[in-house]
Amino acid sequence: MSYRIALIKGDGIGPEIVDEAVKVLNRIAEVYGHQFEYERVLMGGESIDACGIPLTDEAIAACKASDCVLMGSIGGNTSTSPWYKLEPSLRPEAGLLKLRKSLGLFANIRPAYLYDELKSACPIKDEIIGSQGFDMVIMRELTGGLYFGARQTTVENGLVTATDTLTYNEAEIRRIAIKAFDIAMKRRKNVVSVDKANVLDSSRLWRKIVEEVAADYPEVTWSHMLVDNCAMQLVKNPGQFDVILTENMFGDILSDEASEITGSIGMLSSASLNETSFGLYEPSHGSAPDIAGTDQANPIATILSAAMMLRYSLNLDAEADAIEAAVKAVLSKGLRTVDIMSEGCTQLGCKAMGDAIAAEISK
Ligand code: IPM
Ligand code: MG
Repeated sequence: MSYRIALIKGDGIGPEIVDEAVKVLNRIAEVYGHQFEYERVLMGGESIDACGIPLTDEAIAACKASDCVLMGSIGGNTSTSPWYKLEPSLRPEAGLLKLRKSLGLFANIRPAYLYDELKSACPIKDEIIGSQGFDMVIMRELTGGLYFGARQTTVENGLVTATDTLTYNEAEIRRIAIKAFDIAMKRRKNVVSVDKANVLDSSRLWRKIVEEVAADYPEVTWSHMLVDNCAMQLVKNPGQFDVILTENMFGDILSDEASEITGSIGMLSSASLNETSFGLYEPSHGSAPDIAGTDQANPIATILSAAMMLRYSLNLDAEADAIEAAVKAVLSKGLRTVDIMSEGCTQLGCKAMGDAIAAEISK
């Protein structure tokens, strides 16, 4: 079969990690007899430099014309990069938010899983992690809430005053809740819905709609949890979570926290989906401009994102399994990038890690 993949390499370490994911995808194509056609699309800082804006209409159209989008990372150093002297709507991150909105990617799936091999990199004490470790998915609403509400900076009574608005309607809440309960049905059948219903109206509506959706899934156990408590529970007892369902900003923050306890943010993939099987796949980490071009980046999060892409958008389950197994095989051979390096292991650069994973792919 032939598939069209839009490739956004992006900024910082983005190009290096995407190249390694493409290496692994090409190996999949060879072993399983597929054809992947890649279409380069510019976004973020690279698009600002080439086109003056972080996302062009042509770039959106090219993504829409593809079966799925694979992305590295975007953005630069916010204190030193000239991109951050531009007005906010012209900065790299604005391109990503616009792309998510234009493609309707409301459901962001961020798995956080502790590999046995990486237990020593986990910053949480052994007695908390126990023998079972943890394996959770954060389902983050991605196109509503505070990141998409009206914002303005004005002068009120002589004081400069900044306002952001947090809005959700019931349909936005319902569709993400359904995705979360659907995913839970394929896992350990538990959902924790995270909000701040003791303060926010949007959270009180969130609770009501989640309760309605939950009623359609009698097999799924579920509960509400306040976001501040959830932040604490993630380090106190991460093993309790299966699917965490939450709104945009809470999901942004909690997913970084969840990724850190896996030992390295360099391991975590993500998928952003719309109502169809179309999706954008990107590592959960940022563009790490400090190590860009040094061959030190960990390409595993992007490679695992490519596996999610095969599974969710292209329906190639066996191929996705093969990539995930290859990553495990490489880790159990003691091969590590610097961010997950530990005693007795062999340290590899970004390219060599991509080579090692590609070499493990077989039918
Ligand atoms: C993420 C990032 C983005 C977000 C930024 C770059 C806009 O932090 O994907 O988590 O907040 O969604
Ligand atoms: Mg984030």
